[in-house]
Amino acid sequence: MNNIVLIGFMGSGKTTFGRWLKINKKYGFCDTDQYIEKQQQKKIKEIFADDGEKAFRDMETQALKELIGTLENTVISVGGGLPVRKENTRLLKELGTVVYLKTSAEVLLKRLKSDKDRPLLAGGNIKEKIESLMQAREDIYLAAADIVIDTDNLSFEEMFNIIKGADKNEIFSN
Ligand code: S3P
Repeated sequence: MNNIVLIGFMGSGKTTFGRWLKINKKYGFCDTDQYIEKQQQKKIKEIFADDGEKAFRDMETQALKELIGTLENTVISVGGGLPVRKENTRLLKELGTVVYLKTSAEVLLKRLKSDKDRPLLAGGNIKEKIESLMQAREDIYLAAADIVIDTDNLSFEEMFNIIKGADKNEIFSN
């Protein structure tokens, strides 16, 4: 399908870059966390607390199934843990070109150290949590991605141009 899907760790800029593309390049934008929050009328943090992570992961898979076939020319940012479920990786590929926003642990730590909204980082040593989750997920992100972008030293305009040049489906040329 004719979409760009942004994957990557929490804090890698998926939502911020997606919003920037909407404002500056006029693509549609959809964020799976926001989609789920709207549907459930609850914040992600509350879903984790009330219903548990498994229920949230089921909601993510369901959201992907609902979005397939309904979105076009849209940038879709997905929660950092979404690609971990195998079934979801297949669904992501159906949605569009998958772009992994790769960000270093140092940059992520700077962005996430005061975060209060991400249940998987709550309590304990945040640096260790980021590092162990990154280690567990890096290969999954790489396997799921059609395009990998090292985001640390790039502007959004540069990231846009890299995707435009690398995407065989030429979605950003429309
Ligand atoms: C999660 C990432 C979050 C959100 C939830 C779980 C994860 O989204 O879906 O807190 O497992 O990495 P962002 O990647 O947008 O922060």
